[in-house]
Amino acid sequence: MISEKGYSVKLAEARGYLMENVEVLPELGVILGSGLGAFADLVEEQVVIPYKDIPHFPISTVEGHAGQLVFGKVQGRKVVVMQGRFHYYEGYTMQEVTFPIRVMQVLGVTGLIVTNAAGGINSSFSGGDLVLIKDHLNLMGDNPLRGANLSNLGPRFPDLSEAYNREWRQKALVIAKELGIDPQEGVYVAVSGPNYETPSEIQYLRTIGADMVGMSTVPEVIVANHGGMRVLGISCVTNMAAGILGQKLSHVEVMETAERVEKQFVQFVQALVKVL
Ligand code: HPA
Repeated sequence: MISEKGYSVKLAEARGYLMENVEVLPELGVILGSGLGAFADLVEEQVVIPYKDIPHFPISTVEGHAGQLVFGKVQGRKVVVMQGRFHYYEGYTMQEVTFPIRVMQVLGVTGLIVTNAAGGINSSFSGGDLVLIKDHLNLMGDNPLRGANLSNLGPRFPDLSEAYNREWRQKALVIAKELGIDPQEGVYVAVSGPNYETPSEIQYLRTIGADMVGMSTVPEVIVANHGGMRVLGISCVTNMAAGILGQKLSHVEVMETAERVEKQFVQFVQALVKVL
């Protein structure tokens, strides 16, 4: 476990490096999930910083994730885009997975759009759907806030009764309709992975109230809320979860579906950045 002091020092060093290299400091953060990488191309006045150059940043290992922060403007808003995220299943600690969110926080980011690929549990969903996350279930068996509380970053016992900001969700539903996207909402359950679930696990997850399942997002959202950020979450349903369609799941299918809806997903997030 990282000591409180050690963590604060690392955070200050990462911040210091970015303050020196980035002119336009961000107000809004965007985390790009699988297949949404093209959103980064929309960033104007881009300053690209590879993760490997940022002091104490972990390095992304998953295929299809670029591993860089893109600073600049989208729709006139000052943004920082995380192109490639860190997954718990890769072996990172929860503190490592969420380090970029803390870095965003100390750079002045007050709002976060989080995207991911997820398996559909709710049988009214189908592959390619974009679903607004209305709440989550943390079944990862760990928590990024475990350990000494960094009281300058947030409270010991943060409230998560509106982890996904209601007003932002309502705005997102309006935007979705305008873009011809069938607006859906659901509860996202996060599991540690890396295996996809068994059909029995999916049946259990449905019973406890989950509409889609994935292996990311929840750590980042917990830390963003702890740090006082507003959050909007969007899942791209890349496949129906195990046992629902009676067919096998594959990473290839997940990536293919993500690619198929990428254009619409990018358009959606672009429109959201303007109004949030
Ligand atoms: N399960 C867990 N994570 C996922 C899935 C799934 O079916 N699809 C995309 N990410």
